[in-house]
Amino acid sequence: MNNHYWRIHSRPDGTDFSSALALVKEPLPDLGPGEIRIRNFMLSMDAGTRLWLTDREDGYQPPLPVGAPMTGLVVGEVIASRADGFAEGDLVRTFGMWGEFSQVDALMSGAMRLDPSVADKRAWLGPLGMNGWTALWGIEQTGAAKPDEKVLVSAAAGATGILAVQIAKLLGCEVWGIAGGAEKCRFLTKEIGIAGAVDYKAGRVGGQLDSACAGEGGGFDVFFDNVGGPVLDDVLTRMNHYGRIAVCGLLSDYGSGTRTAPREFDQILMRRLRVEGFFSPDFMDQGERLTAQLKHWHDAGQLTMPYDVTSGLENTLFAYAKLFTGGNIGKVIVEL
Ligand SMILES: NC(=O)c1ccc[n+]([C@@H]2O[C@H](COP(=O)([O-])OP(=O)(O)OC[C@H]3O[C@@H](n4cnc5c(N)ncnc54)[C@H](OP(=O)(O)O)[C@@H]3O)[C@@H](O)[C@H]2O)c1
Repeated sequence: MNNHYWRIHSRPDGTDFSSALALVKEPLPDLGPGEIRIRNFMLSMDAGTRLWLTDREDGYQPPLPVGAPMTGLVVGEVIASRADGFAEGDLVRTFGMWGEFSQVDALMSGAMRLDPSVADKRAWLGPLGMNGWTALWGIEQTGAAKPDEKVLVSAAAGATGILAVQIAKLLGCEVWGIAGGAEKCRFLTKEIGIAGAVDYKAGRVGGQLDSACAGEGGGFDVFFDNVGGPVLDDVLTRMNHYGRIAVCGLLSDYGSGTRTAPREFDQILMRRLRVEGFFSPDFMDQGERLTAQLKHWHDAGQLTMPYDVTSGLENTLFAYAKLFTGGNIGKVIVEL
């Protein structure tokens, strides 16, 4: 059986993904012990995978080798299994391949059988997926957000950010977002109902954040940061004493190979801040509990997620680039 999939040919430069990845066709190897073969229905586009495409050896996981298939989360149906607990016809989510099929070791790739009662299968890549887990963990555990505290989220109109702002709101916080463009800010305030949103593309973020800090409560108690870079400096000087910065991602550095080095680092001491990175594979063992909480909110209609869906494997790179140019609101998915 042949598989069409995206293979890494070289390290991408910025958002020029078409020079670095190529769609190839190859026969699938025989199924090994412990493996499952999946017909992919959906590919999840995740900004964090951009790091795996660099040659950085000091990241939170090793780079994907040149010549390897591009890896990412997928949802699909098991069409053959030599793994305990998985049978033909099962709907699963797993780290798989950007291809028509994924063939993976079920255990090593974190394959999970999905509850077929969830009508919208896209939710397994959004609110009930890794973005949901990350948003919940970052707000509740790392950020330790408490009712009535002021929470700020960057890349707030993206998949992880939209969930983070809503979870903070559900926990009773006053929530502010940073996003690129008036339409995204309007969406966050009018559709999601957060207290305010700052357009970082419209000018100085610091000045815009001052209006958020002018009200009751002063500055921010929690910053859920997806971006890093210069905006982090604007926020560091507007944090309340004993505030927490939950470092979820460093989007401003992913494509350029730069390193976030906050100029305002001293504010961590001056304001007695706690700054902590967190990484979803570290709390995989909590997945059942996190999914149950997210599913409760999802079933109650309390977690909105717009989906930005592109059709066709051949259009994958177009969808992927949106994450780095700001072309998406919500979760970017490729449907096959
Ligand atoms: N720690 C973890 O375990 C974990 C797990 C999942 C995701 N994450 C992190 O969560 C973040 C969001 O990932 P996602 O997959 O949910 O993507 P996403 O938020 O759906 O899309 C990325 C968004 O980030 C914004 N952006 C891109 N480049 C930017 C830049 N240079 N400066 C400022 N904003 C930029 C864009 O929106 P604008 O229009 O607003 O610019 C874009 O829409 C990433 O940092 C990712 O690494 C971390």
